[in-house]
Amino acid sequence: MNVRPRRLRRSAVVRSLVREHHVRVDALVMPLFVVARKADAGPISSMPGISRLTLDQAVDESRELYGLGVRSVLLFGVPDRKDAVASSNYDPQGIVQRAIAAIKKAVPEMYVIADLCNCEYTDHGHCGILDEHGDVDNDATVALLVRTALTYAQAGVDVVAPSDMMDGRVDALRSSLDAHGYTGVSIMAYSAKYASAFYGPFREAAGSAPQFGDRRTYQMDPPNAREAMREIALDIEEGADVVMVKPALAYLDVVRMARDAFDVPLAVYNVSGEYSMLQAAFERGWLERERTIDELLVSFVRAGADVIITYFAKDYAKRRSSS
Ligand code: PBG
Repeated sequence: MNVRPRRLRRSAVVRSLVREHHVRVDALVMPLFVVARKADAGPISSMPGISRLTLDQAVDESRELYGLGVRSVLLFGVPDRKDAVASSNYDPQGIVQRAIAAIKKAVPEMYVIADLCNCEYTDHGHCGILDEHGDVDNDATVALLVRTALTYAQAGVDVVAPSDMMDGRVDALRSSLDAHGYTGVSIMAYSAKYASAFYGPFREAAGSAPQFGDRRTYQMDPPNAREAMREIALDIEEGADVVMVKPALAYLDVVRMARDAFDVPLAVYNVSGEYSMLQAAFERGWLERERTIDELLVSFVRAGADVIITYFAKDYAKRRSSS
């Protein structure tokens, strides 16, 4: 036998010498939930280890994350009021706008991404404005997103990340950001975002569950992969700087296809349900925590992701900085 692949697995040193893929802490993005009302702060029961933060806590958390090497946060707002048109979302004094300004002031180098969607701000919980039939009106919703994005830009955001899946929103956002002088604000598009059951815990965290129906008329049908390539191609054409596949774990084939087909930076979103199912298994002692997280995160890198949005970011960074 001339060929023995096991020779390169004989010790930790040689394994590390020939290792093909590595997780970089500076490629991780930590999502933060920021509340307008102090009473809404506190642990999220379906996401052990993750809390909804007050504005001050979000600033402290950002400082700590930056020190640990996590240089980017993704902000979600939990507003103090909701209505049919998500007016608390485009309020220049809204919770996300205040959080952006406060974090950029306290930790100027932190790369601040704001999720851009309406579902946390509408009383019906859908991602846009409803028409008279109760359907989400695409173009009216895009106009709303543009209005909100300008207030985020005004507050100093680095990136807006539209997660609504309306058609044409990247083009509309790019044009109006540019027209208002915000040519430096990037767009990270949730391009291939699936109508996934894995968002369950997030909806508790952000209080954004739809009050009727579901999101299948705007988010993608899980069995489709070619359609994801089309969505990504459109977003790139419309001016997206970074494109995303979401969720991550059940869609790594789509991540690999996107990596092979496109040259722009690619993000994956390791979503709430993927986090919570592992946490549940760790709590029961069914899975080994550190090894499982290492294997999970490197799977995203191996599939071709450049940017990894994950609720494990802080934990992982802590471990790396102490080893
Ligand atoms: C807002 C939004 C959602 C997530 C990110 N942005 C929820 C949804 O579309 O229902 C999910 C994130 C997660 O599950 O961690 N539209």
